[in-house]
Amino acid sequence: MTRHFLRDDDLSPAEQAEVLDLAARLKRDRFALSPLRGPQTVALIMDKPTLRTQTSFSVGVAELQGSPFLVDGTKAQIGTRESVPDVARIIGRQVAAIVWRTFAQTDLETMAEYAGVPVVNALTDEFHPCQILADLLTVREHKGGTEGLTLSFFGDGASNMAHSYLLGGVTAGMHVRIAAPAGYLPEKAIVADAEAIAAGTGGSVLVTEDAAEAARDADVMITDTWVSMGKESEKAERVAVFGGYTVDAELMGRAKPDAVFLHCLPAYRGLEVSADVLDGPQSVIWDEAENRLHAQKAVLAWLLEKNVTEGSAA
Ligand code: NVA
Repeated sequence: MTRHFLRDDDLSPAEQAEVLDLAARLKRDRFALSPLRGPQTVALIMDKPTLRTQTSFSVGVAELQGSPFLVDGTKAQIGTRESVPDVARIIGRQVAAIVWRTFAQTDLETMAEYAGVPVVNALTDEFHPCQILADLLTVREHKGGTEGLTLSFFGDGASNMAHSYLLGGVTAGMHVRIAAPAGYLPEKAIVADAEAIAAGTGGSVLVTEDAAEAARDADVMITDTWVSMGKESEKAERVAVFGGYTVDAELMGRAKPDAVFLHCLPAYRGLEVSADVLDGPQSVIWDEAENRLHAQKAVLAWLLEKNVTEGSAA
């Protein structure tokens, strides 16, 4: 069975730790591994806007001695011009892996079913697991680990980021708190999945509408845009509803004094985060952005290695 990285809990706690260890190693020694030597190609398909993702995957694939092939989703029109299974079989026969940023998680799952090569989620409406790996690497660097720490997210609790923090955070043994207004709470099934993982890792889950409660003594404070890609038409109503969830100096003051601030970017100063927090001394956003590169190289290398090992054992 080909392994994929479609959602955060596709990696067990031990496997996530292995990938993060590998990411730290690749950060120290960027050219230590060359699983794509040949060069083999990795397709990077982008159906939504992208800066960090296309940069970090393009650089990462090249540093793994492979060749990145950037596909403009607006031209490829996957699912419209051609079905997902057809595209999966066409591209999958030519590349070593497929990285896809798209809308529906179910389309990503279909791609994985038919591609025959590892598929990596580069953001869907439901999850953004590569970003969480980068964030966990950043937390490890600044806090010396993840287990037992409290990670608090403020804003759209039904977003890809909130869902991925729930699953990825508890997998890393963290206490994950999501503070969001009614109507924007995480999907119940994902909360239940996170609770089940937390029972085995010592982590926990709290979903609340009370931002102050979520911030209390937190180690890691996080927010994300209130208007995710694809939700642009809802901007006015969202800005009205999310007003009480801005991460500003007052909210940061409720967290531990040595708490760090994370944001996947792009950020909108004055909306989900105040400029003094985003650009302030507790913010580690530039390390976080760089860590996309190292984390994604690690997950690609890990998946390629896993599939070779499991393939040869079969
Ligand atoms: N929730 C945001 C994340 C951007 C990296 C979005 O989906 O637009």
